[in-house]
Amino acid sequence: MDKANVEPSLACARCGKPAHLQCPKCVELKLSREGAAFCTQDCFKASWSSHKSVHTKSKLATVMSGVASDYEGWKYCLKKGQMRTSEIPHFDWTGPLKPYPISKMRVVPGGIERPDWATDGIPKIEPNSELQTRVEIKTPEQIERMRETCRIAREVLDAAARVIRPGITTDEIDEVVHEATIAAGGYPSPLNYHFFPKSCCTSVNEVICHGIPDARRLEDGDIVNVDVTVYYKGVHGDLNETYFVGEVDEASKQLVRCTYECLEKAISIVKPGVRFREVGEVINRHASMSGLSVVKSYCGHGIGELFHCAPNIPHYGRNKAVGIMKAGQTFTIEPMINTGVWRDRLWPDGWTAVTADGKRSAQFEHTLLVTETGAEVLTARLPSSPNVFPWLDSS
Ligand code: MF3
Ligand code: CO
Ligand code: CO
Repeated sequence: MDKANVEPSLACARCGKPAHLQCPKCVELKLSREGAAFCTQDCFKASWSSHKSVHTKSKLATVMSGVASDYEGWKYCLKKGQMRTSEIPHFDWTGPLKPYPISKMRVVPGGIERPDWATDGIPKIEPNSELQTRVEIKTPEQIERMRETCRIAREVLDAAARVIRPGITTDEIDEVVHEATIAAGGYPSPLNYHFFPKSCCTSVNEVICHGIPDARRLEDGDIVNVDVTVYYKGVHGDLNETYFVGEVDEASKQLVRCTYECLEKAISIVKPGVRFREVGEVINRHASMSGLSVVKSYCGHGIGELFHCAPNIPHYGRNKAVGIMKAGQTFTIEPMINTGVWRDRLWPDGWTAVTADGKRSAQFEHTLLVTETGAEVLTARLPSSPNVFPWLDSS
């Protein structure tokens, strides 16, 4: 915060008193002095959490005016200030997978209730909520809404699972997710969340998570994770599964099955009184038994009226997660398991997390409710769910 020569006519953006201080970031970005002046450091600090979005919005406008006009799609991502262009950027790609063009933003009909990031890409309630540090006990009414939303999310994921085959693009999978979500009256939570440009995440082969649906066609032998989150009746439901594309090699089959089992084993310990840090112990034990490694950078999370909140649930062993489970809490468990090293790297798009050694990664996710006796899997498979995992085949 710099002292600056501000004309006396400027009013403090917070309290309206005469302002003599100018936000230095706004000065650097050459933004309007209106709304960027403050009377004291205290007013500046108190305004920061809401004021800072001005900077992000202006960066967005700059990126959008800088892209070639021959390509309609979204090719940027502001997270970490990075973008996707039609030329493949310079990067030390860790494996064979490369980015492809991203189609334009899909539209959600006006009648559907939208989370607060839908319009400008910036979550406003979530980062400032006290539920980032306190684990909420849901009311019976909230729980009933969570059940409804999670069931819709499951049906949306199942619709995506049914179209997976060699030749389909991950963008076409995104279209199925988008259309199924809005047909159910929901909003696809990832869409514009911190500027994420699509309605779900599709993570192929060495992508650990947060892959952006694009024009790449799935190939025979790929594995692909589809991660769906639906916002409906004011709450989010979040789940994902990893699917086989055509005939995959034996090592990939083992990876995906072991990851599925890691989630099952983690869910089996959930009940009141259990420490959140135990989840990672169970997952680590099962993965390392099969010679596989556990991703550390991405964790399970509390969920409800907020997409991501407390508790934080690491999937790796010897973690320092705080707190114990109580009936009425809702959270996700979503282990990401790697064939090779646990370490992850981020693509230049600021979203796509890949394995550092380019070997394959798999993930499964459920949204859970802690009950008096154990866990209710709110996103559980339904009798109608497609039979895509050979180890679940009863016939
Ligand atoms: N569904 C993811 C999760 O399990 C989050 C995706 S956020 C997005 O937490 F912006 F990448 F879509
Ligand atoms: Co999640
Ligand atoms: Co998810």
